[in-house]
Amino acid sequence: MPSEVRILFIGDVVGGLGRRTLLKLLPELRERLDPTFVVVNGENSAGGLGITPKIADELFAHGVDAVTLGNHAYKRREIYPYLDRERRIVRPANYLRSHPGRGVTVVERDGVRLGVVNLSGNLFLQAGRPLFPEADAAVAELRGKVDHILVDVHAEATSEKIGLGWHLDGRVTAVVGTHTHVPTADLRVLPGGSAYITDVGMTGPRGGVIGVRKEQAIEAMLTQLPVRFETSEDDPWLMGVLVSCSQPLRADAIEQVLERG
Ligand SMILES: [Fe+2]
Ligand SMILES: [Fe+2]
Repeated sequence: MPSEVRILFIGDVVGGLGRRTLLKLLPELRERLDPTFVVVNGENSAGGLGITPKIADELFAHGVDAVTLGNHAYKRREIYPYLDRERRIVRPANYLRSHPGRGVTVVERDGVRLGVVNLSGNLFLQAGRPLFPEADAAVAELRGKVDHILVDVHAEATSEKIGLGWHLDGRVTAVVGTHTHVPTADLRVLPGGSAYITDVGMTGPRGGVIGVRKEQAIEAMLTQLPVRFETSEDDPWLMGVLVSCSQPLRADAIEQVLERG
């Protein structure tokens, strides 16, 4: 395995604007950051909600190694058979066993094996099974089979994500939080050697309200009446983290990647 491994993880890609921003910036980021792996959270990539086979295929065609999801995983029915068939896309591992797809996968590049785990928080989100035991089960499933493990914990509550970071510290390469679409400033390598951030943020319009057109979001909050939401097209940003590693299952550094689109 190469001595230096770098994992570029990109936060929730929101709608067409998020996709265009990602695909536009990715070649330059590859050149500058030289990532071994690129992993993208795609739960909002189809018009802000869910993902379609066509969009997932487009991401893979651009060299994305794995796609993670979250609470919008099942918004588009056409993705269900794709989730069962395509090994490079994962939905939360702690969803019901009867749900389409898988929550743990292994991707390989340059002779390096990366385990990718997607998990959902239990607070304020619907996940059929508990987060912490299923995180342990996912790590156990990958033990001895991979050089690195990246965990995307898709959760609303900061406490749950921080708790999981400490719980998995020393057993995985990185625990990265997603779902709030707002990047946090607490990124660090924990004492056991796992990189951690509570939320990576999103790749989409910073000029909206977590992806929604701000006028519509404000109207809904102001009037407390139903409003049809559309994805904002205002002020695109790419938000991610780069995790650098020189030993198996350990991170040397984690840095934020925040780029104006
Ligand atoms: Fe999201
Ligand atoms: Fe989400």
